[in-house]
Amino acid sequence: MSTIYLNGKLMPIEEACISVLDRGFIFGDGVYEVIPVYSSKPFRLDNHLLRLQHSLDGIRLNNPNSNEQWRQLLAQLIENNDGDDQSVYLHITRGVAKRDHAFPENIEPTVFMMSSPLLAPPKALFTTGISAITAVDNRWIRCDIKAISLLPNVLLRQEAIDVGAVETVLIRDGFLTEASASNIFIVKNNVLLAPPKNHLMLPGITYDVILELAAENNISHEVRDISEAELRNADEVLLTSSTKEVMAITRLDDIQVGDGKPGSMFKQLHQLYQHCKATIMRGNSASS
Ligand code: PDD
Repeated sequence: MSTIYLNGKLMPIEEACISVLDRGFIFGDGVYEVIPVYSSKPFRLDNHLLRLQHSLDGIRLNNPNSNEQWRQLLAQLIENNDGDDQSVYLHITRGVAKRDHAFPENIEPTVFMMSSPLLAPPKALFTTGISAITAVDNRWIRCDIKAISLLPNVLLRQEAIDVGAVETVLIRDGFLTEASASNIFIVKNNVLLAPPKNHLMLPGITYDVILELAAENNISHEVRDISEAELRNADEVLLTSSTKEVMAITRLDDIQVGDGKPGSMFKQLHQLYQHCKATIMRGNSASS
């Protein structure tokens, strides 16, 4: 049975209750983080906490905890759940109040954390890659905030599922932004290309790790706008997220990407990412 954290207490998930008036439930008025945990150690926690602060600032909500308090709460949650590799979901809403769009005064935020086993993507996917579709990015223009109101992302992702694909790659005004729940890179002529961080995409922690690995390993890379035509003519298309790590998209809108197999850039970055994780597992805190 999984143990969760809710408003100051650890408890079995079955016992956790929140009010129907919680503004997260009524308005989607809150933010979240998903933090991968390897060998019981949160990966890149400082970066996740920095992004959490950015999201909280974006919705004008005070951070209920210091980084040290978050660190301790996370350690307790991890200890009370099974498995060395976990995916921690952390969620803060503006709290419980009579329904009114305006911010209520003097209420406590709702703070919730849960953990699920973090399963590495199935090995077969590393030889076949995954399929994705494209769609117009119809989300709001503060995609840099990791808001819990994910209805557009949910609908966009489902479009992929409906046709047997895994992810929906998003295009706004002719340019690649990201995907419904991951960031996207392309590769052309052995150069790794990443769209620049701005208000139209979530600044992914895995995105940062990939760019750091590219820089450290002399992989040619550029951060710049990527047109839809470049996406469609890419040699490789890569997807990154905390739960999916790095994966190769080998079919896009039912058309083969490159030669239809995970490419050499994917293989190199996948290996470097595994090495980076292994360093954490050995207790090197430099990357944690
Ligand atoms: N999603 N873009 C979007 C819209 C995302 O939802 C995510 C992550 C990412 C990748 O960010 P990161 O590398 O920090 O995980 C990009 C998480 C995993 C989720 O919502 O479950």
